Amino acid sequence: MPVYFDNNATTVLDSRVFEAMQPFLLGPYGNPSSVHRYGRAARDAIEAARARVADLAGAQVSEVTWTSGATESNNFALKGFADAFGAQRANARMLYAATEHPAVMEAAESLRNRGWTVETIAVARDGLIDWPKFEAQLAVAPVQLVAVMAANNETGVIQDLARVSKRVHAAGALLLVDAVQAAGKIALPECWREADLMSLSAHKIFGPKGVGVLLVKSHVELAPLLHGGGQERGVRGGTENVAGIVGFGAAAELANAEWSQRATHTLALRQQLEAGVRAIDGSIIFGDGAPRLPNTVQFAIPDWEGEALLMALDRTGIAVSSGSACASGTGEPSHVLLAMGFSRAVAFGAIRVSFGPQNTAAEVDRLLQALHSLRVERRPA
Ligand SMILES: Cc1ncc(COP(=O)(O)O)c(C=O)c1O
Repeated sequence: MPVYFDNNATTVLDSRVFEAMQPFLLGPYGNPSSVHRYGRAARDAIEAARARVADLAGAQVSEVTWTSGATESNNFALKGFADAFGAQRANARMLYAATEHPAVMEAAESLRNRGWTVETIAVARDGLIDWPKFEAQLAVAPVQLVAVMAANNETGVIQDLARVSKRVHAAGALLLVDAVQAAGKIALPECWREADLMSLSAHKIFGPKGVGVLLVKSHVELAPLLHGGGQERGVRGGTENVAGIVGFGAAAELANAEWSQRATHTLALRQQLEAGVRAIDGSIIFGDGAPRLPNTVQFAIPDWEGEALLMALDRTGIAVSSGSACASGTGEPSHVLLAMGFSRAVAFGAIRVSFGPQNTAAEVDRLLQALHSLRVERRPA
């Protein structure tokens, strides 16, 4: 039986989510903007899903805007904020953590074309914000927007958002939190409490791909990224992905009910794997010592190249990642590990294992055995 240990890249669609979606793929096919009964059925389903996603985050329903996924959510937050702030205005400055997902990093970098000063926030060796440097950056000049993710997709490192938010708001800036990896794994309302804008994605919580949310607090002004037919109060045009949204709602409801059991289960697997990895001479667990997601561990074994190990494990039927799915195969080491101060050689060795509630202790044993035998195979004669 193949083993799937890449739940931070994406998750299997929960059969209960599929059941909730199915009627909207085969049945009520109305356009939610239509006023007849077909349209109203679709509209009602969307609003019920909105309430479920809001509940997961401890948000108001009016704060939820549907998107095509967290890549769009992050782009919308950053570009929408920049456009509302005013193009080419003097003093426009934003900061983002050096370990952000490319959906934040690249969207933020694109603001340079809109006349913004864009800077990264350094992190320490454990992946947490480098506080003295961050404080100095906030003090030196006005800043309007700061992006710090709740939990990192590669290392699982969880930032201290309460502390970040306090300093960011004291500096007069707004805070964008990419909470894609936090959802369904840690308490999401604690993240939303600190943020002004927050991104979520359905396919990381056993929902469908291609649907996400940007949470926006009422005091935040955003210009639309997608202009169109006035959907989502005019800030995100386009006919809604009804079945996908219904699926996100169902997945959010399940995550709300089950996240704590999922966390307990996956943490036990993480600890089992980490004990085995620590027993290998010279192994490194990235973000060790920092608070981390219960389901995520990224590690390196000396003399092993991450991508080669990934392929060798794949041949034995075990799916892991060498970093973020997006960065895999680019031939570049993880920007997250480089930002944490690891060398390119060490970063090239990284393997990420991300568990889901469906994984078992027997599967972890299989991975540890595979690591052991592959390691022996690789040793020079
Ligand atoms: C932290 C983080 N942000 C954003 C994204 C992008 O989300 P989506 O696949 O919904 O565009 C991902 C997906 O890998 C992620 O892990």
